[in-house]
Formats: sequence, C-alpha cells, structure tokens
Amino acid sequence: MKGIIFTEFFDMVEQKFGYEMVDTLLNESDLPSGGIYTTVGTYDHKEMVNLLVTLNQKTEIPLSLLLQTFGRYLFQKFTEIYSHLIHKAPDAFTFLGSIDNYIHVEVKKLYPDAELPHFAIERLDDNTLVMNYLSIRKMPDLAYGLIEGAMLHFGEKATITQELLTQDGSHVKFVIIKQYAGNRNS
Ligand code: HEM
Repeated sequence: MKGIIFTEFFDMVEQKFGYEMVDTLLNESDLPSGGIYTTVGTYDHKEMVNLLVTLNQKTEIPLSLLLQTFGRYLFQKFTEIYSHLIHKAPDAFTFLGSIDNYIHVEVKKLYPDAELPHFAIERLDDNTLVMNYLSIRKMPDLAYGLIEGAMLHFGEKATITQELLTQDGSHVKFVIIKQYAGNRNS
C-alpha cells in the first residue's frame, strides 16, 4: 500500500484524536517497516490493518466505522491532491463509473506498484449505479467511505447499500441510489 495512504491516515488520526494517539498507534502496533512512512514508499497493507485494529482497541469505535470515516477523509484530500483527475467529471456517477478505467489507471501511471481494487460497473438507470468491488485486500468499508466522499464532493445525495458477495469482504456489491431534493414523498 502506498505511503500516501498511511500519511493521510496519520493526519486524520491527529486531527480527530490528537497527536498522542498517533504516538500510541506507532508504539503499540505491529509495524515491520518500523513505522516511518514516506508518501512515495510502499508498505505491506497489513500494517494499515494493524494500525486500524490498535485504533479500534483504543477508541472502541468499530473497525468498519473507522475505515468509512477514513475513506471520507481521504476523498476530501484526493480532491485537493488530484483535482486535475476529478474536475473533468460532470457528476458523481460519471466519476464513480470511471474509477476503474480512468482514475486508478492514472494512479497506476504515477505509482506503478500501487495495489488497486477492481470495480465492475452497472448503470441500471439515471438514478442507480451498481459498483461491484473486487480486491484481495478486502477493504470494502474504505470503498464505502470513498463513495460517500465522492457523493458529497459533487453535492449529490444518495443511499448507499452494500451486500457481501463473499464472507471475507473480497467481493462486495454497492448499490447507489440518488435522491432528489424535490422527492414526492417528502
Ligand atoms: C481521484 C480519486 C482517487 C484517487 C486519486 C485514488 C487513488 C488511490 C490510491 C493511491 C490507492 C492506494 C493504492 C496502494 O496503496 O497501492 C487507492 C486504493 C483504493 N481505492 Fe482509490 N482513488 C480514488 C478514488 C477512489 C474511489 C472513489 C473509490 C471507491 C469507489 C476508490 C477505492 C479504492 C479502494 C477501496 C482502495 C484500497 C485498495 C483495495 O481495496 O484493494 N478509490 N486509490
């Protein structure tokens, strides 16, 4: 996993829980790399899992919620760092539909050793997008937060549901249904 994900993770931990928590995570997690991350370096993604498990033990916040929150935070950061990749998309569904064949392709050009998930996309109708997540790193909760972050960025409201297609979380189906401000039932 690229170092930028780790450095952003520590920024979030510092912002939400304070620097002491960063220190605790570095001291108390199993980190074969020694816990010194540079943005362009590459580290075993299990170190991220170990950091999240320690954060979960210290805060008692469920792991899934920690990863979702990190996903939202990360997307907000991506809008600053990679604005040139995001601003071309006219709306959230066009953007989300292009993660696999454009965004992550560009990421791979920047970082040839990046380990990225695969998304199979189905556009059911104007308001419904299905994203099938596939990854041996099993981080669907991070994907959930990133999707939420993208919807927020484009100012679009949606309901996101997820269905585990394999128990281990390596294959997950997200269904994103757009809501309209002028909903007849509201
Ligand atoms: C401009 C937007 C985006 C950029 C620049 C970007 C970039 C990246 C980078 C650098 C990584 C780490 C790869 C590695 O550490 O080796 C990553 C991983 C990941 N990305 Fe994206 N990403 C973007 C948007 C998204 C969105 C919207 C989603 C969700 C739909 C997503 C889903 C994921 C997931 C779940 C991972 C974790 C690795 C895995 O599950 O296998 N990304 N992305």
